[in-house]
Amino acid sequence: MRIGKAKPDLASTAGARDSSASATSSCTPAAATAARIAAAHRDTPGALLPILHAVQDELGCIPPDAVEPIAQALNLSRAEVHGVITFYPHFRQVPAGRRVVAVCQAESCQAMGSEVLSSHIRARLGCDFHATAADGSVTLEPAYCLGLCAMSPAITIDGHPYARVTPDRFDQLMQQADTLSTEADAQRPVQQ
Ligand code: FES
Repeated sequence: MRIGKAKPDLASTAGARDSSASATSSCTPAAATAARIAAAHRDTPGALLPILHAVQDELGCIPPDAVEPIAQALNLSRAEVHGVITFYPHFRQVPAGRRVVAVCQAESCQAMGSEVLSSHIRARLGCDFHATAADGSVTLEPAYCLGLCAMSPAITIDGHPYARVTPDRFDQLMQQADTLSTEADAQRPVQQ
């Protein structure tokens, strides 16, 4: 399952390792958290992705001041770490809304009405893709195949998949979502 398209690496030309940078960032709570997590994973092969996941799980995003301690722990440049963060749409540099809605934009879902569904969802939530509603209630993301092609169009709400979603059903799902616990979400099968 892949959420979103790969984003451009905005830092790819930002230069090589900069060990002098960000002396002050190491003092922030986010930097301290990143440093602790990076130290715990430092000797793990391919540690960067596990570290980024762990930082995002704990902080809700990977803020800019978390980059330097991760780079230092792994002997990478800040540009290299930033490049990985910006390449994978899963990683956020700012916190998401309280809910995250992802709407599949791939071929099967397009053929089954995801464009109309997407228009409805954008209007309903009051924000576009890659954005968060002004009240912070929800972040809207595109997805590129959720593995539910035979039951298109498909979406996820907080990571839980829903199939054959119509505009009306989306409205119902959002109402229901507020009453469902995270634990229950994790155990429910795909709803068709
Ligand atoms: S194309 Fe939408 S779930 Fe596969």
